[in-house]
Amino acid sequence: MAMPVVDTEYLKQIDKARRQLRGFIANKNCAPIMLRLAWHDAGTYDKNTKTGGPNGSIRNEDEFSHGSNNGLKIALDFCEEIKFRHPKLTYADLYQLAGVVAVEVTGGPTIDFVPGRKDSLSSPKEGRLPSATKGAPHLREVFYRMGLSDKDIVALSGGHTLGRAHVDRSGFDGPWTKEPLKFDNSYFVELLKGESEGLLKLPTDLALLEDPEFRHYVELYAKDEDAFFKDYALSHKKLSELGFTPS
Ligand code: HEM
Repeated sequence: MAMPVVDTEYLKQIDKARRQLRGFIANKNCAPIMLRLAWHDAGTYDKNTKTGGPNGSIRNEDEFSHGSNNGLKIALDFCEEIKFRHPKLTYADLYQLAGVVAVEVTGGPTIDFVPGRKDSLSSPKEGRLPSATKGAPHLREVFYRMGLSDKDIVALSGGHTLGRAHVDRSGFDGPWTKEPLKFDNSYFVELLKGESEGLLKLPTDLALLEDPEFRHYVELYAKDEDAFFKDYALSHKKLSELGFTPS
């Protein structure tokens, strides 16, 4: 049998890395890109072939050079600084821990983190992450492939409460909310308000308004931040554990 990843020493390093990440992410204001890194490592999961998922494979040049990962080298390099001091941690755990801490330090919900993910160097082919120019059927196709639900799609899209698009990375430009370093429900509030000077709405964001099942959750999360935080924390945990059975 393979050695379990997690022992007492490992848990200690997780705890230290978590503390270090809190300071690091707050100082560098890099919560958005750390969250995007965690999501892009995990979001390649395919439940049928049990391939992809939060396994650290995004550190492969093969994978981080996919067009959808433009810009994420910055976050990978940040994580190397943490890995250097806590070499026992798997990359898979480190990236997901960074995602959880990014949400926490910007004022979002506490997301349960279970360590023990194994690293892989086998990267899926390009094309598993969602394309921003498509509609509701595409979102369903991609997220159902991961084993996630309509509610997960809307709750997780709330991750766009953080950060912004960059023309040189995705071709899109601007933040979704007025305070892109604060995790709250303003993504949904702004989405329902419609056009707003300087704020971005991707075609996939707008798809959440047009589809009645999605829209139900958009309206709920815009008026009830507690409901958003509760659902987001659960959906994020699911995303961070795709294909992973804690030992
Ligand atoms: C940024 C697409 C879901 C978190 C972006 C960008 C695009 C995009 C085009 C801009 C990248 C850039 O130019 O820098 C999508 C699509 C999704 C999706 C099509 C399908 C629903 C998610 C999810 C999360 C997330 C599930 C996390 C839970 C982020 C964050 C940023 C971002 C935090 C900002 C990064 C930064 O400021 O550097 N996304 N995304 N996205 N995405 Fe998503």
